[in-house]
Amino acid sequence: MPLTPPQPRNWWDLPLGGHEKIWLSIVVLLGLSMFVMMPVWHVFGAQNSPTETYRVSPDYYWEKATKFAAAEGGLSRKVEAGIQPTGDDVYLGALKFGWFPNVLVLEAGRRYRIHVSSKDVNHGFSIHKAGEPSQKANFQVVPGYEHVLPMTFTEAGTYDIVCQEYCGLGHQFMLGRILVERGR
Ligand code: CUA
Repeated sequence: MPLTPPQPRNWWDLPLGGHEKIWLSIVVLLGLSMFVMMPVWHVFGAQNSPTETYRVSPDYYWEKATKFAAAEGGLSRKVEAGIQPTGDDVYLGALKFGWFPNVLVLEAGRRYRIHVSSKDVNHGFSIHKAGEPSQKANFQVVPGYEHVLPMTFTEAGTYDIVCQEYCGLGHQFMLGRILVERGR
């Protein structure tokens, strides 16, 4: 039998079918529950992005990051040794195609304020451990903005800082490292 279009009828005047009513009710309930979950999750989800952000010129931020690295003895040290901040504020800069400083040595269990900003284009800041996402961190690193991310590493180990935003031909090589050591 050939497929034929249904008889022309005024569908708007027909009563809703039983199944339609059930499915529409499910859709409305799902929508309402998601609507309610938004404020509920904001309070109880403990997954909110930190909101401490400053407008900053890329040059000014870079100066701060360089001063930070220099103050921590980072500029003269061998790269692999990393920078071991004495204070809780850590200044991390993103640029095509790397992180500055590219190796940080942090203390497990200590709460740091990780400042991130970019020198050139949009980058992404995420942290991975053994190839798996870690620290619930995946942030845009935007030139002109300084984000302050409070962060505590509970486990010692080697963490990678991975750029999660396509930023050019060297994007896939844009890796930094955080070495987390047991509390001193
Ligand atoms: Cu920086 Cu991708």
